[in-house]
Amino acid sequence: MAHEPEHLTVALGERSYDIVIGDALLGRAADYIAPLLPSPKVMIISDEQVAAHYMAPLQAGLNKASIASQPIIVPAGEASKSFARFEWLMDALLTLQPDRKTTLIALGGGVVGDLCGFAASVLLRGVPFIQVPTSLLAQVDSSVGGKTGINTQAGKNLVGSFYQPQLVLIDTDTLRTLPARELRAGYAEVVKYGLIDDAPFFNWLEAEGDQVLGGSEPAMAKAIYTSCASKARIVAADEREGGVRALLNLGHTFGHALEAECGYGGELVHGEAVAIGMMMACRLSEKMGQLSADVTQRVEALLGHSGLPVSPRDVRASWDAVALCKHLYADKKTESGALTFITLRGIGQAVVSKNVDVALARAVIEESIA
Ligand SMILES: NC(=O)c1ccc[n+]([C@@H]2O[C@H](COP(=O)([O-])OP(=O)(O)OC[C@H]3O[C@@H](n4cnc5c(N)ncnc54)[C@H](O)[C@@H]3O)[C@@H](O)[C@H]2O)c1
Ligand SMILES: [Zn+2]
Repeated sequence: MAHEPEHLTVALGERSYDIVIGDALLGRAADYIAPLLPSPKVMIISDEQVAAHYMAPLQAGLNKASIASQPIIVPAGEASKSFARFEWLMDALLTLQPDRKTTLIALGGGVVGDLCGFAASVLLRGVPFIQVPTSLLAQVDSSVGGKTGINTQAGKNLVGSFYQPQLVLIDTDTLRTLPARELRAGYAEVVKYGLIDDAPFFNWLEAEGDQVLGGSEPAMAKAIYTSCASKARIVAADEREGGVRALLNLGHTFGHALEAECGYGGELVHGEAVAIGMMMACRLSEKMGQLSADVTQRVEALLGHSGLPVSPRDVRASWDAVALCKHLYADKKTESGALTFITLRGIGQAVVSKNVDVALARAVIEESIA
């Protein structure tokens, strides 16, 4: 039985849009999408894995309002966020003769969402786009907020744009086919919202997190709704990351360093890197005298209990400390060589810490990999 979906708004003036969260939404997609289309011409970008499950249901849902859609399918995986794939996609889109009223729909995880969003921002100098995220990570994080982009030799997400979607349509039923490892990876970002500014949500996850990971619909919907509400609030306050939006990077500075060392393959997926990175951020906060050790233990218990890695050693037996430290400087928050970290003063109390002593960060890395 389909429930009444929940609605949230990302309040960005004329760029405002809704997030709709519920079950059985793909079949009802036309109800939400048709009113937003400047013309009934739609192109759906997805990956092989997601398309096999959800391309036909989404197209059927759109057909109910006589919306004809053209599918474009890319290989699954981070490698699709490349210049080569981007060029291929632009050519594929242009072959289908879009005009400025053509809407692109991203059906998939964060890879498809970031790639499709970037394509939408530059195709014919910008066409409307809609996010239909299907991974937990995309549903709670990447589909909301308008960051789009691709990876280059120099690093992840270094080419891209801020380009907001017209709608984020979240069908929680799609999570039923998501591999368990990917579900846990998205869960790390869910925990992140509790740590940033929502202690009651963190407490709720301590009590009910198993329900979320176990696939209970109301628990998943609550976790996704609360996460999206938090992200929407932060993005509305700071769309282009001049201030509070940086808090969303909790765990990401250390996490990105680990990801860069692992080479963006299957060894470590983004959410796992974030889980370990949040533990390292806790340890850094302790060293800065901001956080008591019992908070770190609570975070470790919640993440570890869900099956996420909590230490670099859970991934690899040995790491190169010098290389990891070097990656810290590649972080987008680094300004003129000074390191910025998101640190914690408690559960739900994340702060931006500028000019962090490099020696402390190095000590955290060395102790974590020892
Ligand atoms: N734009 C942002 O603000 C933002 C935020 C966080 C992460 N990201 C980006 O998101 C990407 C990671 O996203 P992701 O974790 O969703 O990765 P992903 O898109 O690669 O999806 C993970 C895997 O799950 C599969 N999958 C997705 N949904 C499925 C479903 N319902 N059923 C079965 N399989 C499914 C995909 O095919 C893929 O193999 C990274 O590139 C990261 O940089 C962007
Ligand atoms: Zn992330």
